[in-house]
Amino acid sequence: MPRAQHRGLLMSKTIAILTGGGDCPGLNAVIRGVVRSAVGLHGWRVIGIEDGFEGLIGEPRWRELGLDAVRGILSRGGTIIGTSNRGNPFAYPVEKNGQIELTDISDQVLENFRQLGADVLIAVGGDGTLKIAQGLFEKGLPVIGVPKTIDNDLQATDVTFGYRTAVAIVTEALDRLHSTAESHHRVMVVEVMGRDAGWIALESGIAGSADAILLPEIPFSLPDLCQAIEQRAANGSRFSIVVVAEGAFAAEGEKVLLKSAGENLGVERLGGIGQQVGAALAERLDMETRVVTLGHLQRGGSPTPYDRILASRFGVKAVDLIACQRFGEMVALKGRTVDGVTIASAVARLNRVDPQHELVTTAQHLGILVSRRNTGR
Ligand code: F6P
Repeated sequence: MPRAQHRGLLMSKTIAILTGGGDCPGLNAVIRGVVRSAVGLHGWRVIGIEDGFEGLIGEPRWRELGLDAVRGILSRGGTIIGTSNRGNPFAYPVEKNGQIELTDISDQVLENFRQLGADVLIAVGGDGTLKIAQGLFEKGLPVIGVPKTIDNDLQATDVTFGYRTAVAIVTEALDRLHSTAESHHRVMVVEVMGRDAGWIALESGIAGSADAILLPEIPFSLPDLCQAIEQRAANGSRFSIVVVAEGAFAAEGEKVLLKSAGENLGVERLGGIGQQVGAALAERLDMETRVVTLGHLQRGGSPTPYDRILASRFGVKAVDLIACQRFGEMVALKGRTVDGVTIASAVARLNRVDPQHELVTTAQHLGILVSRRNTGR
């Protein structure tokens, strides 16, 4: 349908968009997709809420997003409107009598939103952001969700944008670590992100030819890991690459958390299992061990073409869902098609690696130790 003709069919609207939670490659591509479709195709207005839900608390912070604002941002990492993984309006830290109490200030957020004169909110985020979006939807706010996270841990979409970029970054790191590990006859332990889902570890471990992958979904066995590394050395490969998901833990141990100095109240921060595994291996094996924590490198920089395309499709589809008044839905990739699913169904359960998943079996059949010796063969 020609642009001008389409424009006349629907009433004018103002769309507010925010990006919440950790940033991830492709956020700008979503924003661009929303603006190009909403402004360029429908003739609507788009405003960007700054720094996630934080921008709706206190004095609202927002900016106009016209076509000029999104010029040249497709390939840029991060998000031009900022993000934050604080600012949950249902559990916001408020000081009361010298004590910090988590308080429900969602009514204030709704009131601030109303004052902006926006008709609908597009919330681009992971599990946490979408749960907040669902809560606000249940309180009457018209909301559309867009799933984002490098962790790929959201149900209801085959994949989240940002994930494939993270896998590509980790894979390149593993390729680079191979040569130095081999030259020094070392064990390289590489800790990767993903929270409680092992997707990044599993897929980059396969793509980057890891020798062991430790997943959060299958508690690992240190003796099995030592044996696998020693066996490789005995077979002539005097180096090993061990990919450890940040949420992995030993069968007799527990998840390793970072101490957060007051920030991210109520949000668990994972990290440190790589160092623990490295220290344990150094103690038990007659091999030098080094630990690399890839950290936020996995989230920075330009999205891959796949993520640029997926994020653009998500942005355009989000506007489409608004045009069809399908509020309370989240865009999702199912097979080859992007469509809407309810946000409620998307956040009901995390998408974690099923230990029986074909990718796990593939890794095992390739000779990779996945958390513990495979006794099922
Ligand atoms: O959810 C994305 C993610 O990058 C996780 O993989 C990681 O555990 C977490 O965010 C890190 O959060 P922060 O940016 O607060 O350190």
